[in-house]
Amino acid sequence: MTDLSPLDAAGVDAAVEAALAAFAAASTLDELKEARLAHTGDKAPLTLANRQIGGLSPEEKAQAGKAMGAARAAMGRALAARTAELEAERDARVLVEEAVDVTLPTSRQQPGARHPIETMQERMCDLFVSMGWEVAEGPEMEAEWFNFDALNFDPDHPAREMQDTFFIDPPSSGLLLRTHTSPVQVRAALERRDSLEGGRGIYVVCPGKTFRTDELDATHTPVFHQIEGLAIDKGLTMAHLKGTLDHFARALFGPDAITRLRPAFFPFTEPSAEMDLRCFVCGGDDAACRTCRGTGWIEWGGCGMTHPNVLRAAGIDPEKYTAFAFGMGIERTLMFRHNVTDMRDMVEGDVRFSQQFGMEI
Ligand code: DAH
Repeated sequence: MTDLSPLDAAGVDAAVEAALAAFAAASTLDELKEARLAHTGDKAPLTLANRQIGGLSPEEKAQAGKAMGAARAAMGRALAARTAELEAERDARVLVEEAVDVTLPTSRQQPGARHPIETMQERMCDLFVSMGWEVAEGPEMEAEWFNFDALNFDPDHPAREMQDTFFIDPPSSGLLLRTHTSPVQVRAALERRDSLEGGRGIYVVCPGKTFRTDELDATHTPVFHQIEGLAIDKGLTMAHLKGTLDHFARALFGPDAITRLRPAFFPFTEPSAEMDLRCFVCGGDDAACRTCRGTGWIEWGGCGMTHPNVLRAAGIDPEKYTAFAFGMGIERTLMFRHNVTDMRDMVEGDVRFSQQFGMEI
């Protein structure tokens, strides 16, 4: 290894050739590094030959210096060129090997979202709780007596027909899936009537699932939600009902919300009314409004002064106490409060729908 003389032109050429061949043969950057150390490192023949230059005569020094300079320059160029080639190859390979397919499904869990029906129900209940009302719940599978009889429905009232109501087999069970939340009024009144004697009124809201034999389409669903309100006290009048509903409407639809009562009929209230909201999209000024269909009003729910027969069914003396009640659909409220146009979006449980309502805790 130490044999090469800087004056041995053929030897120097051979060493350069060997170095160039080794650089060309290196197929990775690691191999190239090994070849570089072998041919240009401290112990490489040309390096050692270069060190001998100092001991030569001036003429020899010049000749050897030139030869060695040319040799080192040739190796440097070859090394730089091969390095560039191998780096380009590596970069191209890394681009392919480390490419990320952004269309692949992720394994990360979606955080999920609370369903807007649930959060709307809570928002409504919270409002009444803040006024001192209680939240009452009742069974979804209900006695026909609570769902109809106690609410003063005639035995042949059309709502009792099979086509509206899911009855539980056998018919003698006297059970059905409640068609509204109104039966909870009677249950809540029965449970709390002692408090009337104690001088405290009964103020409850009853949210929950209700069932009717409707086909699922854009505006109907066989399982839906209502919230019912019932207030029983001494001296309650329609004015208290209207004030309560106005407050409810403003809390949900903003301080400018306006309500209107329209005469209607329900077996369990007398007088009865439908409650409309001033259309908050057009304010009644747009005959082509899609939200209110140009009527200026949106039907929100039913209400009225509780019928004396209903109070009697709950063991309460209608001569001593009066009561008002109201009930509205929660899906319906969501539809016009949030512009949901298809009921099926609320039923299907697609988290992308729920997420749009934000995360309300
Ligand atoms: N239960 C009625 C329905 O399902 C809504 C309703 C109307 C509830 C009048 C009430 C009321 O409490 O007073 O359509």
